[in-house]
Amino acid sequence: MFNIRKKTMLTQVLFLLLALPVVSWAGGGATGFIDAGTFALVIEVGLVLGAIFLGWIVKHKMGITIPKLLQAPILYILAYINFRVILQPPIPFSLLAMYMGVCTLVILCYCTITTESWEAFSGPIASMLRDDHTKAKMSRYATFLILPGLIAAQTYNTMLPKFGEPIELRTVHPAPPASINVHKKLVTLQTAENPFRVGDDGEYLKVGDESKYFGGNSWTGDVPRFLQEVREGGVVFFGTAGCFFCHGDNLDGRGPFSFAFNPIPANFADPGTIAQLQETFVFWRVAKGGPDLSREAFPWASAMPPWEKHLTTNEIWKVIVFEYWHTGFFPRTWG
Ligand code: HEC
Repeated sequence: MFNIRKKTMLTQVLFLLLALPVVSWAGGGATGFIDAGTFALVIEVGLVLGAIFLGWIVKHKMGITIPKLLQAPILYILAYINFRVILQPPIPFSLLAMYMGVCTLVILCYCTITTESWEAFSGPIASMLRDDHTKAKMSRYATFLILPGLIAAQTYNTMLPKFGEPIELRTVHPAPPASINVHKKLVTLQTAENPFRVGDDGEYLKVGDESKYFGGNSWTGDVPRFLQEVREGGVVFFGTAGCFFCHGDNLDGRGPFSFAFNPIPANFADPGTIAQLQETFVFWRVAKGGPDLSREAFPWASAMPPWEKHLTTNEIWKVIVFEYWHTGFFPRTWG
């Protein structure tokens, strides 16, 4: 046919097939011309054909015959690399075990399918076990040293006791101290009140009464006193302190930094955090942060900074007003 020898033609066809993934990568995968699944399939087919082509060149063009006993592990390792690294998306271990099981069967069939192939496969093993020449002897020694060695290492590894991390039983809200010292002033947690929880008349606002300010716009010109404090607390949250980096724009604990920490920053929108706490407890937590957590809360590696080092007492009380207002929760009271 066109005076081209059969072998050359076969080479060309295989070469074209090998070039397929490269071309499709350049023209498709990289530019999104074909979808990722098809692209992966083409790569896969190309690789298998490429491997067959390579084997064919090694055998027929270069005249090298790889012994059956070597072919089997090579095929096995190639299959493993293919399933483990090349195949996309990555497959779970159970599937990998199944695929490798099938590969083992296929390779066994391939090695034992004819009497000749079985002899080619088992011949070297029998020779290693039986023959008397030095080469066989040396490989006999090597095998019987290496094999038990590997098994011993494996046994040692499985028997070696493993020390995992202990399960952390955390007390999320440990008992607070009776009083704390913030900026040289003693704050008794049982009796202290948030000085910025004030109504229009400047009087202390009973917990629950602030609901009339919920949903109000703290940025309009004529804002009630309480909403002014909320606004200033917001400035602390988003500006001065930048609590939102950890606790999130929506106070849901999903700030851009939050994913780096364990324990994760508290989610104030969850009824399990500030909604469960007295304002003074929150004041203690904000002022003293992670470093002041009691033994009970061990082993915490809390990233919560001790804000007394960066904020004034007033700023801390205001940011607390803001957090409750924003989430719509009321602090717990002593009564
Ligand atoms: C570096 C990240 C980070 C920043 C910034 C940060 N926090 Fe925290 N915060 C945490 C983490 C982590 C926790 C959870 C662990 C803990 O309770 O100590 C937490 C816990 C808290 C708690 C305790 C909630 C509870 O249920 O016990 C409060 C209140 C709090 N933060 C308020 C604030 C305020 C107010 C600011 C800004 C002035 C702020 N945080 C800034 C990381 C941060």
